[in-house]
Amino acid sequence: MVAVSRHCTRIEVIASVKEQLDIIISDLQASMGRHTPKSANANESETGASTPAYAIIGTGMMGREHIRAILQLKQARIVGIFDEDAGSVNRAIREFTQSGHEAPAVYTELDDLTNDDRVDAILICTPNFTHRQVFDAVKHTEKPIFLEKPMATTLEDAIYLAEASLSYPSSILLGMQYRYKSQYQLALSAINNGDVGSVKMISLCEYRPAFLPKVKEWNKFAIYSGGTLVEKCCHYFDLMNRIAASLPAHVFASGGRAVNFKDFSYEGQASDIDDHALVIVEYENGVRGQFTLNMFSEELYEGLTVSGDRGTLRAEEQASFKPGRGSSSKITVEVPGHTAYDGFDCTFPSAIESGGHYGSTLFEHVRFAKRVQGQQSDGASCAEGLWAIITAWMAQESIRTNTVVDVRETLARLGLDPFGEGLIPEINQRPTSDETNPS
Ligand SMILES: NC(=O)c1ccc[n+]([C@@H]2O[C@H](COP(=O)([O-])OP(=O)(O)OC[C@H]3O[C@@H](n4cnc5c(N)ncnc54)[C@H](O)[C@@H]3O)[C@@H](O)[C@H]2O)c1
Repeated sequence: MVAVSRHCTRIEVIASVKEQLDIIISDLQASMGRHTPKSANANESETGASTPAYAIIGTGMMGREHIRAILQLKQARIVGIFDEDAGSVNRAIREFTQSGHEAPAVYTELDDLTNDDRVDAILICTPNFTHRQVFDAVKHTEKPIFLEKPMATTLEDAIYLAEASLSYPSSILLGMQYRYKSQYQLALSAINNGDVGSVKMISLCEYRPAFLPKVKEWNKFAIYSGGTLVEKCCHYFDLMNRIAASLPAHVFASGGRAVNFKDFSYEGQASDIDDHALVIVEYENGVRGQFTLNMFSEELYEGLTVSGDRGTLRAEEQASFKPGRGSSSKITVEVPGHTAYDGFDCTFPSAIESGGHYGSTLFEHVRFAKRVQGQQSDGASCAEGLWAIITAWMAQESIRTNTVVDVRETLARLGLDPFGEGLIPEINQRPTSDETNPS
C-alpha cells in the first residue's frame, strides 16, 4: 500500500485500489489459513481445542449466517447454542451436520450457556428488543460479547448499553459489518487517505425488496425493531457518521409506508413499519449527508457518493435475494490521476463473496476473534452503534413531527446525555481532513 504523507505529491498519495483490494483479500485468506485445524472438522472439540469456543444466543437467520461464517473461517468453534424456538434450533443444527461439522450442545436454559466453562465468548443474535435483556442476563460471565445491530430499540437502552460497555471487563463488538463490504472498505480507506480531499457531501442510498420473514415477525413492528431506520439503516448511518467524522447536528426526514405490509398483521397486531424514506443530516463540522431508502424494489442496489474539495468517490453494489444471483461491487474515484478514475470492479472472489452479506460478515469475525484472543481490532464499538442509532432515531422523529430535528436540543429535552467520556467515538472527534491534509 502507498504510504500517506502530507508532503507527497498528489499522485504518490493515491494508492492503487487493486493493490489495496489484494491486501484486504490476502489478509483474510491468511488469517483463515493461520488457524486451520488439522482436521477438516473445524468444530470438533479436540482438533479445534486451541481455537476459542463460542456460544450463540439466537439461531435465526442472522445467527445461522454467523454459524456459517465461523465454520468457514475456522478461527473459532461453536460449542453451544440457545434459542427459544425449536425450528431455529433444528435449522441451526442442520448447518453443522450438512457441512460435516460436529453439532454443538443445545442448551435448554440460558443459565446452562452462561454456566458452561468451555465457552470463551458469547454471540447475541436475538431480535433487537431483546438485546438489553439478554446482555443483562449474560454480563456476569464477563466474557467477550458479540452483539448484533442495532444495539437497542430505544435511545435509553442504547445509552445504557454504550455506558455498560465502558466498564465491561471484556470486549463488546457490534454486528455492523457493512463497513467491511468490499466497496466500503476501499471507500473508507480512500477517504481516510485524503483521496477526495476534505469531505463536504455524502450521499447514500439503498434500494431493496421488503423486510424478510422473521420468527414471530418482530421486524414488522417498530416497537420490537426500533423502527425501519433504526433496524435496517443503522448500517448506513454508521457509514455516514464515520465518513463525516463528526456528530449529527440537524436531521430532516420524510418517509412512510407506501407499499409493503399495509394489510399485514401478526397475532392481531397491524404492522406499522415504514418502507421508504429520504433523510438529510447536517453534521456539526458542516458536512452534509443524505440517505435514501426504498424497500419495494425487485433487486438490491446500494450507492455511496462522497464529494470532497479534490473530487468525488462512488462506491456501488448490486445484489439480489434471488438464489443463484451473486453481487457485484465497484468503486470510482473521480480525482485526476486516480487509479480508480474510470471505475474498478472490486467484487470479492466467490469464496469470500458467498460468506454472508457478500463477504462482509467474514471480516467482522476476523475482528471478533482477535478481540476474543485479547488483541486490538477496529470492529464496531458500542459508542459507534449508539451514534448510528441516535442519527436514525432523529430521522424517525423528524418523520413523526415533520420538523427539522435539532439533535442536541432533542436529547436535552428527553433528559438524555450521550456526550459523556467514551460515548463519542474517536472517529467523530477527528480533526477535519482540511486540517489533516493541507495542500
Ligand atoms: N448485521 C446484519 O446485517 C443483520 C442482518 C439481519 C439481522 N440482523 C440482526 O440480527 C438479530 C436477529 O435477527 P434475525 O434476522 O436472525 O431474526 P430471526 O427472527 O430470524 O431470529 C431471531 C431468533 O432469536 C430467537 N430469540 C428471540 N428471543 C430470544 C431470547 N430471549 N433468547 C433466545 N433466543 C431468542 C428467536 O426464536 C429466533 O430464532 C437482530 O438484532 C437483527 O437486527 C443483523
